Amino acid sequence: MNDPGVNTVETGVTIGGLLRESGLPRLEAELLLCSILGCERVRLITHAEETIDSSHVRSVRGRFARRRAGEPVSYITGRREFYGLALRVTPKVLIPRPETERLVELALERLSPGAPACVLELGTGSGAIAIALARERPGLRIVATDVSEAALALAHRNARDHGAEIEFVLSDWFDALGRGQFHLIVSNPPYVPEGDAHLVRGDLRFEPRLALVGGKDGLACIRKIAARAQGRLRPGGWLILEHGYDQKERCVELLIELGYAEVADFEDLAGLPRACAGHWLGVAGF
Ligand SMILES: C[S@@+](CC[C@H](N)C(=O)[O-])C[C@H]1O[C@@H](n2cnc3c(N)ncnc32)[C@H](O)[C@@H]1O
Repeated sequence: MNDPGVNTVETGVTIGGLLRESGLPRLEAELLLCSILGCERVRLITHAEETIDSSHVRSVRGRFARRRAGEPVSYITGRREFYGLALRVTPKVLIPRPETERLVELALERLSPGAPACVLELGTGSGAIAIALARERPGLRIVATDVSEAALALAHRNARDHGAEIEFVLSDWFDALGRGQFHLIVSNPPYVPEGDAHLVRGDLRFEPRLALVGGKDGLACIRKIAARAQGRLRPGGWLILEHGYDQKERCVELLIELGYAEVADFEDLAGLPRACAGHWLGVAGF
């Protein structure tokens, strides 16, 4: 076999055998094995009886062990798919979630194709949302911020990988932005309450606190963004925020109190309340 990714040195350990010994869910084991062999998952099925050379076997077993110890697959492989895009991820950024793809859809529904528009993404992390929007609507002017330098550097790299034109700004929410206003502001801000039990379970244990924790009740960042977005939205502009599965009522109330119109909440693919949107009809504050 002439595939540089899979050497056939006689170790006696086959692809199928390695997957079976992993003790991991099949998909996770396959992703980890592919990350070492540099191949697609389909190849593991078509070449299940192929033997793997000893250095690859060692590397794969190392990755299996890290996963069994709880480390997220995406941090081990350094990759995560979001909205059909392969993104780089590191432990310095949140692993983009499938539920966040809903934000991209909601944003696209509110931006007329072909019409020039300025979009702001707050807390871009790996750049997932901004890059997905840029890829879907190349004509948009997109500004994306984060307070984490490491996140911005990674987002920059991901944007370059995907040929996405995005202006990245190191900023505490709106603080370092110029005076511009936007047709749409979108954010998946940190919204887990301090001390929440989920923070010490599963993938969240490994993710940056800065990306997760939104103050005592989880809503500190959402409140700040929703209030300050008013001065940054053009009249007729939209605010779209992701929130926790149990934060729908408080987010809807907040947006209505702040004077947003057509406030609506949206479910994710799992049927859980996940995103709140409001239309800003007022005259911007500055
Ligand atoms: C929940 S993560 C979302 C990351 C990415 N947008 C996504 O959906 O996968 C929240 C992001 O907000 C950033 N963040 C936290 N506090 C911030 C602040 N004060 N100003 C700007 N960004 C902030 C974090 O660094 C993190 O990247």
